[in-house]
Amino acid sequence: MSRPVSAALAPLTTLLATRRGKQLALPPRLARLYGSLRVPSLHGRPYVFSNFVATLDGVVSLNETGHASGGDISGFNAQDRMVMGLLRAVADVVIIGAGTLGADSRHLWTAAAIFPGLANDYRQLSAALGNSEAPLHVIVSGSGTLDLGLPVFAAGKVQTLILTTRPGAKRLLQQHVPDSVEIRAIRTTGRSGHAIPAQAILDEVCRVRPARRILVEGGPRLLGDFYAARLIDEQFLTLAPQIAGRAADDRRLSLVMGRSFVPDDPLWGSLTDLRRGGSHLYLRYSFPVEPA
Ligand SMILES: NC(=O)c1ccc[n+]([C@@H]2O[C@H](COP(=O)([O-])OP(=O)(O)OC[C@H]3O[C@@H](n4cnc5c(N)ncnc54)[C@H](OP(=O)(O)O)[C@@H]3O)[C@@H](O)[C@H]2O)c1
Repeated sequence: MSRPVSAALAPLTTLLATRRGKQLALPPRLARLYGSLRVPSLHGRPYVFSNFVATLDGVVSLNETGHASGGDISGFNAQDRMVMGLLRAVADVVIIGAGTLGADSRHLWTAAAIFPGLANDYRQLSAALGNSEAPLHVIVSGSGTLDLGLPVFAAGKVQTLILTTRPGAKRLLQQHVPDSVEIRAIRTTGRSGHAIPAQAILDEVCRVRPARRILVEGGPRLLGDFYAARLIDEQFLTLAPQIAGRAADDRRLSLVMGRSFVPDDPLWGSLTDLRRGGSHLYLRYSFPVEPA
């Protein structure tokens, strides 16, 4: 028998609360579990935020078969899943890369999928924010090597936008494309190979779904491209109290992969919010954004 949510899940303790943005009217149970949630409303562009969980030594993925998910990092922590659901519930759009889809290929990036016991509360919140449906799922794959039979595409439960290159679109169109899936090709320059510039991803997303809040759930390569283009307003980061460790030839991933910043191009954030749930810390940092 499943335990009632209230017995399984203790509220977070707020240690520092951001004063930036508008306070959202959370349904009572979410307000009790999370505390108050403020989210900026920006003029002329969406608020772009990311959410990850990392170990104390900065690992976000063990990157090994059967243990590549965020759950291995957080310890399948209920409070972390509650926060993931909350952020998905306020997002108009969730963007992920092909690697993140591949690591969790049966998943949907909805609030209900990450914390089914709070599905009604999340639905109430989304509806109050004007969203009657799940966030638009955007999957980024330069190569277009995606299986359109996966639930995120084929179950018809969410609207999905695949952003790819021209060769990627050609490859994808060899499969049956479900009605809930739209494929858009973005022109890339020869120099960048099949990498799509992060600004082009955002521009295309906004053409398809005018959005106020866009959640980038990663993974590390996609997030790296967004940071390199200075397009992330805020990073939500759960710090899980474990040391993952690394072998000398390790393939474990950290928050950003494929891009480096310091010392040539340093990228500093400011702590805006801090909550505690047991020994897990829920951090929120703001970063300078340079929209096109
Ligand atoms: N701890 C956490 O909170 C967390 C969060 C998210 C993900 N993860 C983990 O991170 C791992 C995946 O890492 P990853 O770095 O491989 O993830 P990723 O960024 O999701 O995937 C990389 C792939 O996505 C596509 N892609 C990303 N950026 C692109 C761009 N600008 N243009 C075109 N294509 C782009 C490419 O696909 P193609 O090769 O098809 O071109 C690329 O190979 C998984 O184990 C996942 O569970 C952990």
